[in-house]
Amino acid sequence: MTTLEFEPLHPDFGARVSGLDLTRPLSDDEITQVRDAIDTYQLLCFPGQDMTDERHLQLTRQLGEPEAEHVTFGKTGDIVYFGTVGNVEDDGSKKVAADASTKFQTGNQLWHSDSSFREVPSYVSILHAYEVPGEDGATEFVSMRAAYERLPDEMRETIDPLYVVHDYVFSRSQVAPVDPNHAASLPPVRHRLVRENPGNGKRNYYVGSHARSIPGWSGVDSRRLLDDLLARATRAQDVYAHPWQVGDTVIWDNRCLLHRGAGYDADRWRRRMRQTRVVGSEKGVIPSP
Ligand code: OGA
Ligand code: MN
Repeated sequence: MTTLEFEPLHPDFGARVSGLDLTRPLSDDEITQVRDAIDTYQLLCFPGQDMTDERHLQLTRQLGEPEAEHVTFGKTGDIVYFGTVGNVEDDGSKKVAADASTKFQTGNQLWHSDSSFREVPSYVSILHAYEVPGEDGATEFVSMRAAYERLPDEMRETIDPLYVVHDYVFSRSQVAPVDPNHAASLPPVRHRLVRENPGNGKRNYYVGSHARSIPGWSGVDSRRLLDDLLARATRAQDVYAHPWQVGDTVIWDNRCLLHRGAGYDADRWRRRMRQTRVVGSEKGVIPSP
């Protein structure tokens, strides 16, 4: 039986995992171990993986249902399962920083949870690094589970019963215009502000750039609470900045982590990563009070 080894990356969350080749089909036991480790560590980095899109999609399917990439689906209605992260086109050419698609990706530099704006948000994202910049280009992560645990009791009691509206157009129109078809495909959605992991019962709040407002609250009060929760989760000491190496496959739990790109000089460096996401389960949402 495979025994995975975990080396913690940050006191709150994250582990570097050895002992598993992700590029061949995993056994049921290995999948269970990976799922349990996602529940516990929230972020797993598997270095030195000899990945291809085919193997990446196979791994994605072993963890659940792949999510249709929303930009392509929104604009054209076509279902593709990969998003390209970075500034390298499929034909290998590099885009400059001023290019519209490079600019659009600067939206990833706001703290967010992938697909929190969907009716059924994502379980995990799986990102593999093929080319990395010679400097900068880290992805930063924080745990909203650890942040929830740090809250004073009375604040947990205040937020436990609340809902939150997540809205892609609200967040992304702050950095670049959103294509009208794409915007129409993603109406605002309502989630519980506090979610619970169905495996271990651990709770976290669920904010980030797509979190727009609290239903029934004024805009001012909504923003005050959501901005405060974000600030409490993203203090310098809460951050794990992942310094990408070629061959890293990172799986992170979108139910309870926020992440953001730290940025890099897209005029100078190439950065090419491929990303898939696994559809979540609504069981992560605690029942209405
Ligand atoms: C992502 C993302 C940030 C980065 O892939 O979902 O937000 O570092 N990436 O590019
Ligand atoms: Mn993201």
